[in-house]
Amino acid sequence: MGRFEGKVVLVTGGNRNTGLDLVERFAREGAKVFMCGSSAASTAKGADALKARGLEGIVAQPCDISDPAQVTALFDTIARESGRLDILVNNAANQGIGHGGPLEMEADRFWDVLKTNVVGGFRVTQMACNRFFMKQESRGVVVFLSSNTAQRAIRKRTAYCTSKGAINSMVRALALDLAPLGIRVNACAPGYIHTERWNTLDPKLAARRRLNCPLRKEAAGADIAGVVAFLASDDAANMTGEIVTCDAGCSCQHMPEDVDV
Ligand SMILES: NC(=O)c1ccc[n+]([C@@H]2O[C@H](COP(=O)([O-])OP(=O)(O)OC[C@H]3O[C@@H](n4cnc5c(N)ncnc54)[C@H](OP(=O)(O)O)[C@@H]3O)[C@@H](O)[C@H]2O)c1
Repeated sequence: MGRFEGKVVLVTGGNRNTGLDLVERFAREGAKVFMCGSSAASTAKGADALKARGLEGIVAQPCDISDPAQVTALFDTIARESGRLDILVNNAANQGIGHGGPLEMEADRFWDVLKTNVVGGFRVTQMACNRFFMKQESRGVVVFLSSNTAQRAIRKRTAYCTSKGAINSMVRALALDLAPLGIRVNACAPGYIHTERWNTLDPKLAARRRLNCPLRKEAAGADIAGVVAFLASDDAANMTGEIVTCDAGCSCQHMPEDVDV
């Protein structure tokens, strides 16, 4: 019997890259999984990709998590189709790529990133708690996807790094307030993950990035899904407010090996 047999899971941004691996992990371990992308087209594409992996019964509904009405509609669907929710995985993220540096980026683009990653993640969490977790004896679990960039910044991604730092603080604040109510909140903070964006990288740059990792490899989506599933499982029953880094050792090194002479 799978660890998540009888559980209902929502994965935001479950329609591509790491999100697909998160959906797959929970589904293969027995859960009923709901997922969303931000648009009808991207969500439908994700649903097809999951079917191609042999996964049936995934409920896919588009939901821009920065739009309160769409979040409500998604939770209406979960209520109608399952009547409960046990695990929320806040994976959706605006990567804030291509905004330029802090001197030239438009301030509105900064807000777009926070509106999805921070306010959107909060809104979905609040709704999960109020509409489901607080009404269920077994309560519920929240796992956020943070990033090691919350601790060690990357260039020309000011808004994204800011949003992930805010998520880490939000995880601790939510954990504190929700612990007495029996709701756990944790985060996984990945480093490099192999997504479709890696397929367009110059192989020399990909090799250089791998050299940056003490373990010499970026994470697969499945590696991240393993950590998230652990945090969502009863094996982590005594953990809340934690940010678990999964970055091939990047955060523990001062300098990559080739310049550490
Ligand atoms: N990739 C990495 O190396 C890396 C490293 C550290 C942390 N992370 C974190 O790990 C998670 C997964 O990363 P990833 O690279 O797999 O993500 P990704 O490829 O950038 O995909 C982002 C996902 O979020 C969805 N999304 C974006 N804005 C949304 C909105 N307003 N409403 C609903 N969904 C929205 C996207 O849907 P659409 O397809 O509709 O756009 C997509 O499914 C993210 O939280 C990311 O910040 C990633």
